[in-house]
Amino acid sequence: MAQSFEDLGGILVVIPTYNELENLPKIIARVRQSVPEAHILVADDNSPDGTAQVADEIAAGDDHVHVMHRLGKEGLGAAYLAGFSWALENGFDVVVEMDADGSHQPEQLPLLLDALRDADLVLGSRYVPGGSVVNWPKSREWLSRGGNWYTRRALQIPLQDATGGYRAFRASTLRALDLDGVGSAGYIFQVDLAYRTLAKGLRVKEVPIEFVEREVGDSKMNRKIVSEALWRVTVWGARERVAKAKTAARSRRSSK
Ligand code: GDD
Ligand code: MN
Repeated sequence: MAQSFEDLGGILVVIPTYNELENLPKIIARVRQSVPEAHILVADDNSPDGTAQVADEIAAGDDHVHVMHRLGKEGLGAAYLAGFSWALENGFDVVVEMDADGSHQPEQLPLLLDALRDADLVLGSRYVPGGSVVNWPKSREWLSRGGNWYTRRALQIPLQDATGGYRAFRASTLRALDLDGVGSAGYIFQVDLAYRTLAKGLRVKEVPIEFVEREVGDSKMNRKIVSEALWRVTVWGARERVAKAKTAARSRRSSK
């Protein structure tokens, strides 16, 4: 028997897709099995492979599955922001982010939801004890670990996996963040939201997950996504240091 999360209210799993034709039916079936009460929103960027048509067919036979047809490829961040607005407009209480390619195992969703009972944002984390990555080339793992190390140092945040994309938000958390002010287009969107949540003083918890690299289709990661991540974290970090220096100067003056 699947665990019940009724106490958390309505749950929506947002799955952004770009050319995930083969993966999508499998991931939807696994979510439906793992947490039957959860609804799913597929946010598709007009995938040339026809992912959205398959999503529509599934939605026609399942009232827990919904499809958002977006006009073109605008990046992961934009697809999630549109999905979040839909979730809030439709009164969901919990919003989950999940990749379509099977890297985020729906069977681990109960772990995230359980942790959300005393948190405002739960991150599925590859780099806390018990977390792991399966089948990533060493180069990609080092890029991810290095990115997380740099993010921790630049932003002075205590997260081991701020770039990961398997997470659960309370709707109240999303409402507290200024989502209209989010300009992050690519995967740095993940860091942006975790950083904003911490800045609001909300509770962010990391739970270990096993991330399994996709077997079908291609990663959409590219140089543009990496360079956006690098410049944004560097700018945020610089702002953080300026703000700290100002606070320190102010407290020196007032203690004179
Ligand atoms: N709608 C939409 N638009 N979906 C997109 C876009 C886009 O522009 N780009 C990627 N996606 C979807 C993919 O179809 C997939 O479902 C999910 O977003 C993740 O994309 P992948 O291309 O599989 O990402 P990855 O495996 O390289 O990266 C993973 O690790 C990153 C770094 O830790 C993801 O978990 C990222 O979320 C994470 O930031
Ligand atoms: Mn992937």
